Amino acid sequence: MKVLATTRLPGPAWDELADVELVEGDWPESLSRPRPGVEALVVTNETVDSAVLELLPDLRLVANFAVGYDRIDVAACAARGVAVTNTPGVLDAATAELAVGLMLAARRRIAEGDRLVRDGRWSTRWAEGPFLGRQLGGATLGLVGMGRTGSAVAGRAAALGMRVLFNRRRDTADPARRSLDDLLREADVVSLHVPLTPETEGLLSRGRLRLLRDGATLVNTSRGAVVDEDALVDELVAGRISAGLDVFVHEPRVPERLLGLPNVVLTPHLGSATVETRAAMARIVVDNILAAERGERLLTEVIRPER
Ligand code: GLV
Repeated sequence: MKVLATTRLPGPAWDELADVELVEGDWPESLSRPRPGVEALVVTNETVDSAVLELLPDLRLVANFAVGYDRIDVAACAARGVAVTNTPGVLDAATAELAVGLMLAARRRIAEGDRLVRDGRWSTRWAEGPFLGRQLGGATLGLVGMGRTGSAVAGRAAALGMRVLFNRRRDTADPARRSLDDLLREADVVSLHVPLTPETEGLLSRGRLRLLRDGATLVNTSRGAVVDEDALVDELVAGRISAGLDVFVHEPRVPERLLGLPNVVLTPHLGSATVETRAAMARIVVDNILAAERGERLLTEVIRPER
């Protein structure tokens, strides 16, 4: 099966594919001409829309090297009989670790402290310095979304001595469940673990961000567009809250106004970026392609197209 890929995947599984072409440059512009014969496309949640599908007339499978597939027009794929797969189940620990890392970094001012030391600005003795953070132990964590990743964060946060509350749509008698607005009012740290869908786009609106307590920390390892980014930047510029952000609306662009702020920790979409997790994700991508090649059932299809 001829495979077109926007990037070479890490780990040993990739070498099991016999016929792979890498497209260099910015996607989708780099797909500048029709590619008949390409049957599988590997993307990292890059845009796959009707225009892309038009240029790949023989495509049978979009194998997404990510769990989130918000840039893939699944309906357009289904309409053409193109299957879409993702990589669920192997990112939860890595993403949860990053979320906790961002909580620690923002609340304990780790990145800010690192810059201070490197810049030679470490002049005050620790006991006198104003460099105080807030500890996670004893603080209240509000999880928006309680799926695989949210649950993985909950366990780690509890081990750190945090009180864990959560919001999710599905009803449950769990006393830790809150409405979204109550969760935002009650939590010291809010961490987002929902996929980007039409329902979650802008979920943390300007009005909702105002519900956060003074001094609260927002952590986002899900998708930038789940938050009203302009409103979030306004809150951070005002210094009312802090944040740990791994995702942005227009990646790899980060709002200019954030770059000089001490109260936000910025990382370049690293949620799943561990050796272990990326190898496991590549394994799933390759297994899906091999299954398609053999005409077998796909492992992790996100929607079953009408065939
Ligand atoms: C990463 O952002 C993913 O969706 O896997």
